Amino acid sequence: MSKATENKVTIYIDDKPYEVSTDNNLLAGVLSQNLNLPYFCWHPSMGSVAACRQCAVTQYQDENDERGRLVMACTTPVTDGMRIGLGDKSSSKFREQVITAMMTNHPHDCPVCAEGGECHLQDMTVMTGHSVRTYKGQKRTYQNQHLGEFVGHEMNRCITCYRCVRFYKDYAGGEDFGVYGSRNKVYFGRQSNGQLESEFSGNLVEVCPTGVFTNKLFSAHFTRKWDLQSAPSICSHCSVGCNTSVGERYGSVRRVVNRFNDDINGYFLCDVGRFGIGFVNNLSRIRTAKGIAQQSPLGLSELDVAKALVHYRHKKFAAIGSSRASLEANAYLQSLVGLDKFSVGLAKNDLALAKIHSNILTKFDAPSIKQIEASDFVLIVAEDITQTSPRIALAVRQALKNVAIKKADLLGIPSWQDSAVRTIGGEDKTPMYALQSTPTKLDKESKYSDLLSPQTILLSLDFILARVAEQSTKDFDLTEDQISLLEQLTNEMLAAKSPLIVSGWSHQNALILSKVEAIASALKARNEQSDFQLCVLAPSANSVGVMSLMNEDTPSVEALISLSKNNDIDGIIVLENTLEWLSESELSVLKDNVEVLIALDHSENQTTEIADIVLPAATVTEGDGHFVNYQGYIQRFYQVHVVDSPIRESWHWINSLAQSLFNSSHKLTTFTALTRYLGEAIDGWLIKADSDSFSPETASGIPRQTHRNSGRTSQSANITVHEGKSLTSCQQVNENEPQFNFSMEGHDGSQCQDVPFSWAPGWNSNQSINQGSLHQSDKTYEKVSFAHCESQSLADDATQQSEGLLFVRQPRCFNEDWQARLNPEFGLMKNESHICVASKTLDLLDVEQSEYLKITLSDENDTAEISHWVAKLVVDDELPNNLSYGQLANNLCGKTGISIQLSIASEEEVKEFKHQETEQQKHYRNQQAQMLSQLKERDQFIPIRMSNDAFYEASKGQGGGNG
Ligand code: SF4
Ligand code: SF4
Ligand code: FES
Repeated sequence: MSKATENKVTIYIDDKPYEVSTDNNLLAGVLSQNLNLPYFCWHPSMGSVAACRQCAVTQYQDENDERGRLVMACTTPVTDGMRIGLGDKSSSKFREQVITAMMTNHPHDCPVCAEGGECHLQDMTVMTGHSVRTYKGQKRTYQNQHLGEFVGHEMNRCITCYRCVRFYKDYAGGEDFGVYGSRNKVYFGRQSNGQLESEFSGNLVEVCPTGVFTNKLFSAHFTRKWDLQSAPSICSHCSVGCNTSVGERYGSVRRVVNRFNDDINGYFLCDVGRFGIGFVNNLSRIRTAKGIAQQSPLGLSELDVAKALVHYRHKKFAAIGSSRASLEANAYLQSLVGLDKFSVGLAKNDLALAKIHSNILTKFDAPSIKQIEASDFVLIVAEDITQTSPRIALAVRQALKNVAIKKADLLGIPSWQDSAVRTIGGEDKTPMYALQSTPTKLDKESKYSDLLSPQTILLSLDFILARVAEQSTKDFDLTEDQISLLEQLTNEMLAAKSPLIVSGWSHQNALILSKVEAIASALKARNEQSDFQLCVLAPSANSVGVMSLMNEDTPSVEALISLSKNNDIDGIIVLENTLEWLSESELSVLKDNVEVLIALDHSENQTTEIADIVLPAATVTEGDGHFVNYQGYIQRFYQVHVVDSPIRESWHWINSLAQSLFNSSHKLTTFTALTRYLGEAIDGWLIKADSDSFSPETASGIPRQTHRNSGRTSQSANITVHEGKSLTSCQQVNENEPQFNFSMEGHDGSQCQDVPFSWAPGWNSNQSINQGSLHQSDKTYEKVSFAHCESQSLADDATQQSEGLLFVRQPRCFNEDWQARLNPEFGLMKNESHICVASKTLDLLDVEQSEYLKITLSDENDTAEISHWVAKLVVDDELPNNLSYGQLANNLCGKTGISIQLSIASEEEVKEFKHQETEQQKHYRNQQAQMLSQLKERDQFIPIRMSNDAFYEASKGQGGGNG
């Protein structure tokens, strides 16, 4: 809620007047005044249940009441003139007794606890004054569980606040985690050992106020929290653009935590964003340049690059951009080769979707997560949002509670009274419908979630459009049941005050998206007053960013390859794009048509394999830039740690290419210089240089750690107590770049919103965000604009997909993008390949039912086999004829006009398939172990550069410490 809409009243706390909002409970009101009131079970997003009894205050009837009564602040509304005691004896004593009781069983293992240093329980214990342990009995102990790859479990630390189960089950809809009790033993976990199934399990680590749930990947390469240097970043896995804070130590990434942003991700991240940072450290990182001879042992120079490229000077170049590279790198490259020779890196199908999507964004503002949460009707069209954009699915789940909130409101019960609202709401939910071809985790919440073929989805959308546009709905080739359901859906949508339609790109059908757009326009035309929202989700972190660089004539990757066939292009530069949907033969056409193929990327892939020249690029944590999220908001990510030479940010390499190939005289050495250059070179470039947008007091660099952590440990204390500063940060500070600074001095959290952590005096955990008004974001965003594009060949694409057996890929969040697949832990999460088909479809195809099927993928004329693989058969007789879906080994993204044949897999093929699946699991385990040992080995050599050469001299003289 923005500050402007808050209703404020005056309340008296310990006889002093305070202006407090009535939109939340008394606890939130007290905290908003920067006052210290301990609590455990309340959470700003999950509301109050009064489970812990920690937030007691004394409420007085009036100024003459000297006795008062104890109330729980988290369940007490704020009323004008109310008087409460915070520092009075009885409530202080009560709070101390509560924490004393909690601590009887809590182990005093802070020195070895992963939560130590940012533990809410530590803070609250100190705050209440509990310091002496009088309990002499044995502590209650539990057996811990194996909860899978991501989350560790240490149940002895539990203080039974119930936050974990409330988040996992009530908030995120997880079903495999609960609370189990016997006498005074209450257990929070699964029924048995096993991987937590929720896509949001990692939030347990942040939600639990103690160290019961820990980040296993962080613990594996552990560092104390106060030794982390952090920078604000943006998740690079999907288009939601969740704000993260990435922590580094000795030049390697250690963990990702949520960075609160009231407008985007709020308090929560999905597991892909939290645990999917391992690609930065993966074994296939490209650490040397290919095709360029290095002349000096000191490293690759600009001269080396110029020499390698001298033959191609004055040649005609085209370029392929990327939805995972920064907006700056894409725009810079486009400005070099020209609009007509720059593909934004999308396949033909994706480009058609992108064009419709950009038209949609010119007409409709995409809703924020808060707006999604406020919806009173939801229609999801052909997008498994839990897998493709998990944070949006979490928001949709909250929208389902609005019926209950409304019912409670009629009884005078506020929305933050969580357990009361749930009781009143019962089974009633906001109506949600899904028109889709694959099952999803939201199906249980939907009024309608039957699986439909894409053709039936299109027909259903036509029907809805006709109803909204008040046209005839006769002669639709739909069953009576389907028609009555669509009638009901449309009526409910038209009656809703804030209806929401969600769709995306994963169905790969541009016609579906264009019909969604038509319905949205008809709804808007019919009811201008309605608070209608249309949310379209793109696949990658910067898909919407590259859309802003498109125009009507932007070629798809396939079109650019065809252009190269006509000898119009001598060389192609591929920016951070694996082109993984291209077959081997298509790739060889790409390579053979041009004299030189130059690839920039951070890890090996099929493009870098065939490229003549490969330039090792930095990952998102190693560079600066902007991504544009699904709403069109431009968001900044900052360099977190130092990059190993010769790895450089893509824009740096592009600057080298500009000088070597395009006769540019601009030598851009800093991100600020790049931003200023782009501002001059590109019409309508929106991004300001950092030094122009930061306040003067931040211009010398914001420390990358909290004030509390100032003067943390120094690994090289035998040489100097000062922490080594990275060369990069020194350069930036010298050039007055207002970046984040590697410093021994912590940040007090007051200077700028983009700090990578929150901290308040006495509050060292992430709960400090709730102190004061820090969490009330008044941030303004720059929004990119889009050129209007006509959407071509939509009907063609749809027809191509309608022939023969139709296979719809079932997305899986850990497998969705290439960077996610580089994480060995995500590989270990892979389900066995399977295909679901109805038995009548198998009969029609004359394929016998057997445990495993062989799937052959050919081109549209069935003339050339593209690939084949084996998958487990799952018979689902609810599926319409000719529709199949599944999670398969091959990535079919971006493919059109493909044909699928099924046959029985032979015994050898099944054997080989099982062998491969087992080998893959072993491979991921080995990768995980190797990555870890490499990282630990690197730590021994302190890979950060000391700014002072004398340090090296000193270290030589003294035996070098650890170095
Ligand atoms: S495990 Fe953590 S969040 Fe869950 S009840 Fe115990 S202390 Fe609370
Ligand atoms: S993958 Fe998407 S939803 Fe998940 S944290 Fe990243 S941006 Fe957010
Ligand atoms: S925070 Fe109020 S009872 Fe737990």
